[in-house]
Amino acid sequence: MHKCSLLLPVLFLQALSYNYSSINLPDEHLLYFFRNLPQLTERCLKDKECLFKEHLNKDRCWGYEHDCEWTKQYSIPACPGDHKGWVKSKFAQQTTFHTQADFGYVKEQIKEMKMMCDPLFPDDSSLECSEHLRFCRARNIMMNFTKLAHRDEPIRYKMDVLGDGDIGGYCELHRDKLLKEADHISPLQSWGPELRYFTKLKRRPIVQGDCDVVVEKPTFVMKIDATVNMYHHFCDFLNLYASLHVNTTDEYTFSTDVNVLIWESFEYRSAFGDTWEAFTEHPLWDLKTFKGRTVCFKNIVFPLLPRMIFGLYYNTPIIYGCERSGLFDAFSKHVLHRLKIPLYHRKNKMIRITVISRNTKYRRIVNEEELLKAIKKNDQYEVKRVVYDRDMSFKKQLEITRNSDVFIGIHGAGLTHLMFLPPWAVLFELYNCEDTSCYFDLARLKGVKYITWQKADKIKSFEDGTYKGGAHAKFANYSFDVEEFTRLVDIAAKHVKNHPEFQDFVKRAAKKESILHEEL
Ligand SMILES: *[C@@H]1O[C@H](CO)[C@@H](O)[C@H](O)[C@H]1NC(C)=O
Ligand SMILES: *[C@@H]1O[C@H](CO)[C@@H](O)[C@H](O)[C@H]1NC(C)=O
Ligand SMILES: *[C@@H]1O[C@H](CO)[C@@H](O)[C@H](O)[C@H]1NC(C)=O
Ligand SMILES: *[C@@H]1O[C@H](CO)[C@@H](O)[C@H](O)[C@H]1NC(C)=O
Repeated sequence: MHKCSLLLPVLFLQALSYNYSSINLPDEHLLYFFRNLPQLTERCLKDKECLFKEHLNKDRCWGYEHDCEWTKQYSIPACPGDHKGWVKSKFAQQTTFHTQADFGYVKEQIKEMKMMCDPLFPDDSSLECSEHLRFCRARNIMMNFTKLAHRDEPIRYKMDVLGDGDIGGYCELHRDKLLKEADHISPLQSWGPELRYFTKLKRRPIVQGDCDVVVEKPTFVMKIDATVNMYHHFCDFLNLYASLHVNTTDEYTFSTDVNVLIWESFEYRSAFGDTWEAFTEHPLWDLKTFKGRTVCFKNIVFPLLPRMIFGLYYNTPIIYGCERSGLFDAFSKHVLHRLKIPLYHRKNKMIRITVISRNTKYRRIVNEEELLKAIKKNDQYEVKRVVYDRDMSFKKQLEITRNSDVFIGIHGAGLTHLMFLPPWAVLFELYNCEDTSCYFDLARLKGVKYITWQKADKIKSFEDGTYKGGAHAKFANYSFDVEEFTRLVDIAAKHVKNHPEFQDFVKRAAKKESILHEEL
């Protein structure tokens, strides 16, 4: 039985002192945000200070709310392709995609949520999780990191950070139920490795002062994948974003006044670290922060993980024929907005082509100059060659990506940038190195068109024999037939030109221009 209703008066009080200017969401997300907060909506209507009135009382929804109509949701998956016998109808195809990789995934998590440790009173602890402990949230719980003080080896991807009794709370623990769900025991698949040790404490840890540290602000614990690889690290960020939606409960859902605790003892380092600004305004914590101490968390979230079985987006089975996940679109907009990545105005209808050049030992384009020269001949194209490496800030990279129409690169994690392309864009994976579905699927999820090299006899590979792991498509350099390259770029450019959103964007930009000129 749920005893949560006892918490409601507290939430209501918080709403009384709400600071609207902390909302900081992309404009097109505001109506969805307010839709789920009737009390805040009412407050805003009455409040002269509230500048969000035009975003109130809209009947649109993200897609996971229990009363959200299919046609009113953030976006409806496009399924132009055949479904090859997976399901019986077009609608079934769309809902399958929605559940696999869109806000329907969030909806499943919410539906599955079960109390694992029941509170009786507001100061009690609580623990709630979705199936297989993929997502959990807890209140007033204690974690005991005393033993970490005696551990010398660095901790990453470890399942023994906590042991018996190192985590617990004062609440009615349903131990069998909890252990039954702790069946995905692998570091990045679930919270089973940690929560299987959850115990019922004899007293309220915060009230009784049992903790060395009490963390008041909401805390997100992160077990992260590879920080050096954009594809894998963005899997962490996307799952964190999806988790904000799973835990959507009050006006602080998208607040950056939260802590992030990285479940490692390594110093966090990543070329993509700027992305945290989309989620927290505070420095990141790791296990060193608390080693040797007992810590109580008033409000803690164990978010969806990057390597869940049937998770998002690594190894996700995605139904054939569908594309454009609203969840991916919203994630992209959220990150671009919070990181303040500008979208340039257009002064003309030129197609902006960005070619990613690699500074690495493998997968170099041997005849890059020749290819660039060939497409630069077309006066409809604005061609830019870039190297996305440590010499260019990640924000600058995102800025170039956001303002590209055709994005060209050979297989590699940098193609994950496709998540930040505009909706009319084309990703041209020059050569997929025999990894056929990775960026094809990601492009599908984001809803940008994907093309790749088609003619095996028009590409040449150069291997220098230094790679010790045996010959493999990813460990060679390549040269491409110039004419075929130009033909494919033209196909991509044509897609952009014909895309209604591109036409609309250019038209609006032109109008703005002419207004400016008239004013001058
Ligand atoms: C409200 O939030 C904004 C942005 O987060 C902050 O700059 C401002 O100081 C806050 N105002 C108050 C009264 O807390
Ligand atoms: C934390 O763990 C240590 C060692 O396992 C133990 O001695 C200590 O009593 C625990 N602290 C609390 C508050 O349970
Ligand atoms: C998560 O949801 C709970 C309600 O169950 C809420 O009290 C808490 O503030 C939420 N946490 C965050 C970080 O939004
Ligand atoms: C690829 O090209 C780079 C730069 O010319 C070179 O250093 C590297 O050895 C080449 N790799 C292979 C596998 O040929």
